[in-house]
Amino acid sequence: MFFPINDILATARRAYSLFMSPPTTVLQCDASSISFDNHTSLPQISSPQTLDALTRAADHLRRGRPVAFPTETVYGLGALALDQAAASQIFSTKGRPADNPLIVHVSSYDMLQSLLPPNYILPSTYQVLTKHFWPGPLTLLFPCVPAIVPSMITANQKTVAIRMPSHPVARALIALTDAPIAAPSANSSGKPSPTRAEHVLRDLQNKIEIILDGGPCGVGLESTVIDGLQEDGSVRILRPGGVTVEDIEQALREGMPDSLPIPRVLVYRRDYHDQAIEQTPTTPGMKYRHYSPSVPVVLLNVDQVAPQGTSDTSIEHFVGSLRRFADGQVLKAGLLTPEDSPIWSYSLTDGDTQWHRYSLGHADQPSVAAHRLFDGLLTLEQSGVQVIVVQSFQEVREGLAIMNRVQKAASESQWVNFS
Ligand code: TXA
Ligand code: MG
Repeated sequence: MFFPINDILATARRAYSLFMSPPTTVLQCDASSISFDNHTSLPQISSPQTLDALTRAADHLRRGRPVAFPTETVYGLGALALDQAAASQIFSTKGRPADNPLIVHVSSYDMLQSLLPPNYILPSTYQVLTKHFWPGPLTLLFPCVPAIVPSMITANQKTVAIRMPSHPVARALIALTDAPIAAPSANSSGKPSPTRAEHVLRDLQNKIEIILDGGPCGVGLESTVIDGLQEDGSVRILRPGGVTVEDIEQALREGMPDSLPIPRVLVYRRDYHDQAIEQTPTTPGMKYRHYSPSVPVVLLNVDQVAPQGTSDTSIEHFVGSLRRFADGQVLKAGLLTPEDSPIWSYSLTDGDTQWHRYSLGHADQPSVAAHRLFDGLLTLEQSGVQVIVVQSFQEVREGLAIMNRVQKAASESQWVNFS
């Protein structure tokens, strides 16, 4: 009998990788059992099960191994930020390109200071922003000290991105590990970010040993990334996220000392462009594919006028155009829209399509949609649909971050006239 050598090698490789993959353990954590001492920033943990889970995870991190854990935004895949060998496992586990820098997470201001130049004083804008939004879903760029932060973390940038998460499990884990933790979202590169422990397990099973399960993430989208180090004093939003631009503007208006001007807040792509940034992946999501499930996503634009040369269409026409995704008789389509959308009502009476609906709340509740967006994409992907339709949101408040993610997830856009 004849066995092709390539097949034999492939089978051997598969068997080896199965044998070598670490089994993944999911450890439950009760966030409500964790509190923090205001002075020391150290956690007090009343649940023995949670204390055991966090202690195991912190030991694992200290041994240089990665751990997935919940934050208030999305689940993160953490490793010691100041240890190259540990941090490199983040890149290999996710299949993340080496030129995409990581956010470093801290649990206290002392830990923040340990990463910064000696005697560094936070700019006034950062003092206002950290006072308002830390711990929380806000990432700030700081000057990087190459002797402290490995170049692998910053992808050789002159800045390092740092945030202090507010999720008690995340903050306690960092405090118990007693070291800054680098953590991107805990998904394979290019996929939607996980907002539940099940999402992480499905994606990274047998690639990591420990997942801490702290329940669903509250915010549901990643942190807002800000560069406030520009010479012109502006505050530049590189990635819209968990803290809205409106809240940032208000905090600066109310919090800046009277002697200083109120900084302008500029949103990348909306208010300014930068050639240098376009060429590097440092502005989140610029260079690489992002947030895309394995089925095509079609963006259904309802709030903007169709661009010149594109015409808008009726719901019937739009749904008809989706039939090209059907591989059998019946189209199986995922619908990720507010429940008060006309296409939601249309889907309830459309007998020609097998609709799988996932509600994004109501059109005037963008924070609900933000919370549900990634779970919706991942849930519909799991349900075996052939295409996922996501409806656009107005780019205000959380809608700005939603549209930033949705535009990257979608492989095409169509304009539908609901009137
Ligand atoms: O909410 C979040 O930010 C989550 C949780 C886990 O904290 N993390 C997260 O990490 O979203 P990640 O790696 O998926 O996205 C971080 C983004 C990257 O796209 C990267 O380009 C950008 O932050 N970034 C990191 N360091 C940077 C730097 N020095 N300059 C500009 N952008 C930076
Ligand atoms: Mg990510």
